[in-house]
Amino acid sequence: MEKDASLPIGMFDSGVGGLTVLKALRELLPCEDVVYLGDTARLPYGTKSPQTVTRYGVQCGAELIRRRVKLLVVACNTASAVALDALRAAYPDVPVIGVVGPGARAACAATANNAIAVIATESTIAGGAYQRAIHAARPEARIVGHPCPLFVALAEEGWTDGDVPEAVAARYLDPVFRPASGTERPVIPDTLVLGCTHFPLLAPAIKNVVPRATTIVDSAATTAEAVFRELDRLGLARTGEGCGQTRYLTTDDDARFARTGSRFLGTPISEKDVELVDL
Ligand code: DGL
Repeated sequence: MEKDASLPIGMFDSGVGGLTVLKALRELLPCEDVVYLGDTARLPYGTKSPQTVTRYGVQCGAELIRRRVKLLVVACNTASAVALDALRAAYPDVPVIGVVGPGARAACAATANNAIAVIATESTIAGGAYQRAIHAARPEARIVGHPCPLFVALAEEGWTDGDVPEAVAARYLDPVFRPASGTERPVIPDTLVLGCTHFPLLAPAIKNVVPRATTIVDSAATTAEAVFRELDRLGLARTGEGCGQTRYLTTDDDARFARTGSRFLGTPISEKDVELVDL
């Protein structure tokens, strides 16, 4: 393992969604340098097979490790759900942290009625990683998993509020939170997990269509905490004054990455900090 606290943290996602995790990481660990890779040329991951996502994930990991990183954050639920074991096997010397475990823990901490809804990409829901992670912490939990693939495109397009995202959100979520009367009524979840790093941008639209008391959780803050704990445990945390630097890599259109990424990060990304890479 690269036992050098001055090295950056490596992060990747299929696109700019993982910047929601970077934002939380920056708040908790402002001194750390970060290299963020968005595999925008091959987005979306969420409609692809586990084999393909695993191959892409291992390639993203290779690019970051080639640049020397002290820890790898898989800031993509789809890749975390299917490729975490392959990444750990491929790079045994680098600690790898995914977002599914932290997201599941946040949901378990939030629910009072043990009924949890998870929305994510098709691949994340089909693989059952959230269901397994939640059940490991709360065997009695009732979990409804629901794929919402259009949310990824809406977030990338910047269509995050107004009629269109609310109509899409209602179409996806009404069957879970407002089931038709008549048949036996299931317990309505009190907690909704945004199991895709693109989805936090749609939180305002989602909030408008679910019952008001629903707690909405995502894995950004809990993943940042997991990174903090792991760096601390390994003696790899960077301490001191000042701001860490962030370098961005993208596999397609650096100008577009800077433009859309700024929205996800909540602060401007300069095009000169974005490098085009070929995996
Ligand atoms: N941001 C990714 C995730 O967290 C998914 C987007 C995609 O489908 O590539 O799952």
